[in-house]
Amino acid sequence: MRMVDIIIKKRDKYELAQEEIEYFIDGYTKGDIPDYQASALAMAILLNGMTSQETKELTLAMAHSGEIMDLSEVIPIYVDKHSTGGVGDKTSLAVAPTVAACGLPVGKMSGRGLGFSGGTLDKLESIPGYRVDLTTNEFINQLKSIGIVLTGQSADLAPADGKLYGLRDVTGTVKSLPLIASSIMSKKIASGAQAILLDVKVGLGAFMTNLDEAKKLAELMVEIGKQACGNTVAILSDMNQPLGAAVGNSLELKEALDTLHNKGPADFREHVLVASGYMLALGAVTTDEKQGKAVAEEALASGKSLKKFRQLVIAQGGDVSYVDDPSKLAKARLVEDVKSSISGYLQEINAREVGEATVSLGGGRERKGDPIDHAVGIIVEHKVGDYINIGDVLFTIHANDEARALSAKKMVLQALKWSAKPVKPLPLYYGTIS
Ligand code: URA
Repeated sequence: MRMVDIIIKKRDKYELAQEEIEYFIDGYTKGDIPDYQASALAMAILLNGMTSQETKELTLAMAHSGEIMDLSEVIPIYVDKHSTGGVGDKTSLAVAPTVAACGLPVGKMSGRGLGFSGGTLDKLESIPGYRVDLTTNEFINQLKSIGIVLTGQSADLAPADGKLYGLRDVTGTVKSLPLIASSIMSKKIASGAQAILLDVKVGLGAFMTNLDEAKKLAELMVEIGKQACGNTVAILSDMNQPLGAAVGNSLELKEALDTLHNKGPADFREHVLVASGYMLALGAVTTDEKQGKAVAEEALASGKSLKKFRQLVIAQGGDVSYVDDPSKLAKARLVEDVKSSISGYLQEINAREVGEATVSLGGGRERKGDPIDHAVGIIVEHKVGDYINIGDVLFTIHANDEARALSAKKMVLQALKWSAKPVKPLPLYYGTIS
């Protein structure tokens, strides 16, 4: 087999055979196939698509490019969760301890933020000492002993995806349904998931900006998940405006802690409860997601979720005094309100632009590996549909540099669209696929 023939076949819109997909993934993982040929194939896939059969074969080949974890001896059922990412999406920080506190062990491997979209690991690293590089043995032991782990993805799991994702990031080939679906699902299969909740974000601040595309992605991933893992459910959730109020690492961690204290913004709290409900139902702790949501609500109200989060932080070497007293978290030098000079209804708060403004403050990274400033970020004080008076605070900017604060202020004002007529609040969800 020759790689060039596989590229030509996909360029000419033919379906690839399983052996060809496996040849590509195996050769690319080993370093026998160079980046330029892998880029050419990724672009041909982006332009010409893949059948669902090809996508499944690509997913399985990537999943088997490294070790497959088996947690069946460790916990009764391994329910995993994945969010396709967005702005202000700190869901895992509150869902994992809530679900674990309800008796379903959660061991999650998360990622870092890239571009406008944040990452769970960066948020957790706002806690001094918190380790995100657990070994497989440490992962297993901690999951057994306290029923919760939040760490980084092990390099041994789906290494083909790690390589290919880095390449796609710099070759304009991220936004392809088969490539996104196989990237996400290969990692879930490799982590040994037996049931999966997929939180597929849709809107201005998501990979999928339109609902039809998001649905297609969700359907594809659910189909793969059901065949390769077990019960899989996708929720299509809004990412037109940021989730919750806080965007930026320490600020988001603090908002997650507020939620674990049974407070926090209403939309974020609701999302945490809904996602927890689905996970509890997938893990057969409750009969359905409604009952799961009620059980999760009780865990938040009773302080059980917070207690579990404390256990997690201690187990992973974090300084728990930052959880007990979030005012200790890194603070930005400048905290500036952005006030409205007009009155009217908020019609749009473009999540992507708020995310870009956070990156410009230093709170995110333009390129993989860039350092980030955990203290900076933006508090979005309102939601779409709110009526705003002149002088009301629209955003609070947390910055460590005057020039960056000024530029972020301009960016967030440009993220807004206004209406003189009442505007309906945005829904939290657009449907479920199971
Ligand atoms: N997240 C992933 O893990 N992979 C993609 O391709 C896109 C989002």
